Amino acid sequence: MNCSFQVLVYKNLQTWPCASVRQIMGKELKCPVLGAPWTACLLIAISLSIALLMLENTPSWRNQIPNWRGASDAGEVGEVAGEGDALKDLLRRLVRGEERYQLEVGGFTCHFDLDAEMCLSAKPVRISNGGLTVHVPSDGSGFTRSVRPYARIGDELAMKLTTPVQILHRDMANLPACNFTHSIPAVIFSTGVTGNAYHELSEIIIPLFLACRHFRSQLKFVATDYNEWWIRKYSTVLNRLSDYEALDLSDGGVHCFPAAVVGLRYHGNLALNASNVPLGHSMPEFRQFLRESYNLKTKNVHEIDKLHKPVLILISRTNSRKILNEDAIVELAQELGFQVVTAGPSMMSNLELFAKMVSSCSVFIGVHGAGLTNEIFLPDGAVVIQVVLLGLEWGSTNYYGSPATAMGLQYLEYKIEPQESSLAEVYGLDHPVIVDPLSVFAKGYMAVRAVYVDGQDVKINLDRFKATLEEAMRLVGHSTT
Ligand SMILES: *[C@@H]1O[C@H](CO)[C@@H](O)[C@H](O)[C@H]1NC(C)=O
Ligand SMILES: *[C@@H]1O[C@H](CO)[C@@H](O)[C@H](O)[C@H]1NC(C)=O
Repeated sequence: MNCSFQVLVYKNLQTWPCASVRQIMGKELKCPVLGAPWTACLLIAISLSIALLMLENTPSWRNQIPNWRGASDAGEVGEVAGEGDALKDLLRRLVRGEERYQLEVGGFTCHFDLDAEMCLSAKPVRISNGGLTVHVPSDGSGFTRSVRPYARIGDELAMKLTTPVQILHRDMANLPACNFTHSIPAVIFSTGVTGNAYHELSEIIIPLFLACRHFRSQLKFVATDYNEWWIRKYSTVLNRLSDYEALDLSDGGVHCFPAAVVGLRYHGNLALNASNVPLGHSMPEFRQFLRESYNLKTKNVHEIDKLHKPVLILISRTNSRKILNEDAIVELAQELGFQVVTAGPSMMSNLELFAKMVSSCSVFIGVHGAGLTNEIFLPDGAVVIQVVLLGLEWGSTNYYGSPATAMGLQYLEYKIEPQESSLAEVYGLDHPVIVDPLSVFAKGYMAVRAVYVDGQDVKINLDRFKATLEEAMRLVGHSTT
């Protein structure tokens, strides 16, 4: 993939999380069908498909399977004695109660909730149709069920980009023959909804970590709605969770696995839920996993050498929610004694490098938006300053603020005043857009998005912001110059 293509895709990463808009100020506003962010997603998907089609010399997927044994070993999937029980034991941690009982007794179960659908087979499965059909042997009558393998089934627009997987329960005589036999379980998930770091982390990476960590890398990912760009972006994490490349099964063959996980569960907004299955996993553990994956050395901000100026990263948005006086902010932070790095789209597009950079910084600043997702790479005790624009208070707190605190960071909010918003100039300080945002919310999602999300920039009040920067400096154990 050439550079200009990557940059083009990255720009769209700046889109505001759709889900945030839905819940601004605690209201469940429905994203309209083909709302702007999803139109962007669709466009990405379309441009990706075109770009991928145009790519030449893409290595065939066969070359990407380290333990590729070719078609010659096709045949019956035989279970090594004891292996089935060991797999069942790994799978049972992903469910509880009645579902766990079904898995133990019948070798198969499904979990359905408001956010996600996940089915587990401790029985050998045969996967065909590019990962979209899973054949499970059954003794009784044949039946079919459908699973949407993306952990946000309530999101209509995400579901338009997620192809359901059909699970066919059939007797042995009606199962297709294996072309390829794999010796470890498959984990099937969709990479159709991508392009926004917040959603990628909350709805794919964290769910994958929770579903897969205890398999100790002995599993194979089967990516449906296959998105090579996404696989590449998160390859470091994927390679840490699995010893094998993610499979794109679009060769048309039948792939046989000793067990399978179909779909992922949702665990929260940029969060893990330690009381949910698999039990006991928490954010510190996930952050430790990221540190190991990306080889990030600094665990706590106090390990950073105090002899040097603390590093402050300022996210520089270029399309919407821009800081109009960014240069003045940079200057102010430098005067106070920070070493300032402004991070624009191209810097953030290399996750490997950007994660390293974030992990050694003390203060991370951004206007509400997906770039703040990178707070996940900060060392414990580092300070996040979120610039909260008019009308975006609820999403700011719930998508980045509370998660920051929950993951051991220090969180400061810089809530702008009406005169700092570009909306004041456009509408005047007395306009309902400024004094009565609820009147705009009453008009629905499109209105909110147009006005507050896409239509608003900020000119930060330097005097007021100075106090926030000084507070941040104090919190990371330095005094301002
Ligand atoms: C899979 O096996 C079937 C029959 O055994 C064969 O017709 C088909 O061509 C094979 N497909 C691949 C992709 O090898
Ligand atoms: C965490 O999981 C438990 C058990 O499944 C559930 O009752 C609780 O509501 C979850 N908490 C959050 C914040 O989602």
